[in-house]
Amino acid sequence: MSENRNFLREFFKDKKMVGAVSPSTKFLGSKMLSSVDFEKARIIVEFGPGTGVFTDMIISRMHTKAKLIVFELNENFYDSLRERIEDSRVQLTHDSAENLSRYLNENEKVDVIVSSLPLMVFPPELRESVVQAAHKGLREDGKYIQFQYSLQSKKLLESVFKSVKVKFALKNFPPAFVYTCQKQ
Ligand SMILES: C[S@@+](CC[C@H](N)C(=O)[O-])C[C@H]1O[C@@H](n2cnc3c(N)ncnc32)[C@H](O)[C@@H]1O
Repeated sequence: MSENRNFLREFFKDKKMVGAVSPSTKFLGSKMLSSVDFEKARIIVEFGPGTGVFTDMIISRMHTKAKLIVFELNENFYDSLRERIEDSRVQLTHDSAENLSRYLNENEKVDVIVSSLPLMVFPPELRESVVQAAHKGLREDGKYIQFQYSLQSKKLLESVFKSVKVKFALKNFPPAFVYTCQKQ
């Protein structure tokens, strides 16, 4: 319950950054993660964890040798995650998602990016740079998985990725679309 209050408070402080009034459901998280091969994925990135609903689900599924790099721009969400997540596989970053390449070693490529960023409330340049940064950071067979509350982002994602598949998650408030994007 306190996570919901925390979320709502951050939403009222900065609607355009938070982009939702409550945390997502685990049901949506399961839809987001259903196509991820956790046996194989060694570098996983999360954009916009908020209170960490998906982060916890990723941590419980990821390989012991995998690394999770998390980008959260909101200071309160970042601080709370830093206080409660104690896992040496997780690298929490208080920076914007479009700076992904700064956190990858030379020749390092990402297997999966899980994004909850409210793309459609971002200014167009930021939206474009985030999606381009994701495309650039991914392996050739990597996946960019993004949820949104509408189909408005489809055009942008299709302009950058070769394949974009959309699923619908009803058990979430509001119900959401899950985009799974691939370079090939
Ligand atoms: C819609 S909320 C999703 C939170 C959580 N993943 C969930 O589904 O409940 C979007 C999150 O993205 C974060 N965010 C917004 N812009 C960001 C950016 N440029 N880089 C990283 N995180 C950002 C917000 O602070 C917020 O935590």
